Amino acid sequence: MKKNNIILIGFMGCGKSTVGKKLAGSLHYEFMDTDTVIEETYGKKISRIFEEDGEEAFRKAETRLLERLEKEADGVVIATGGGMPMREENVRYLHKIGTVIFLKAKIETLLERLQNDTERPLAAGEDREQRLRTLYEKRLPIYEKAAEVCLDTDGKSFYGIIEEIERYTGKGKN
Ligand code: S3P
Repeated sequence: MKKNNIILIGFMGCGKSTVGKKLAGSLHYEFMDTDTVIEETYGKKISRIFEEDGEEAFRKAETRLLERLEKEADGVVIATGGGMPMREENVRYLHKIGTVIFLKAKIETLLERLQNDTERPLAAGEDREQRLRTLYEKRLPIYEKAAEVCLDTDGKSFYGIIEEIERYTGKGKN
């Protein structure tokens, strides 16, 4: 049976953590950010995990965390790292854990939000705009396929987005 969790997926900068925290507050759920949990486990920032242990180590840690959440999570809004649905194995876990919602945003919106970012290894370095555009094109169909609901977020307030999620999931005040 599907557990009582809501999972937010989407590209870097789409608002998973901000929306997730506010949604959790509104539903009286717990909030979890998978990036933060992995940083706590490693005792260092994601950029350093990528640098010192490699991206593959980070990806394995993501899958291990989902394995644990499948057993333990209940009543949690989970904001995932932008690469989480790229592994099919992860998508299978996500569906066992809860309702998967894709926060979709235009690449222009995301580029603007990510322009001064210094934390995300995949949004750093030379040619970042072109690399992000290419990654976005590649990932968009994967997010769409992985999600039960695809929510267009451009031009919407956080509260508007939260209301839509509450309506879709049948939770909250509606
Ligand atoms: C990643 C997104 C990041 C973080 C890591 C890799 C990605 O999370 O997991 O830097 O592959 O898109 P956010 O989507 O929260 O920025």
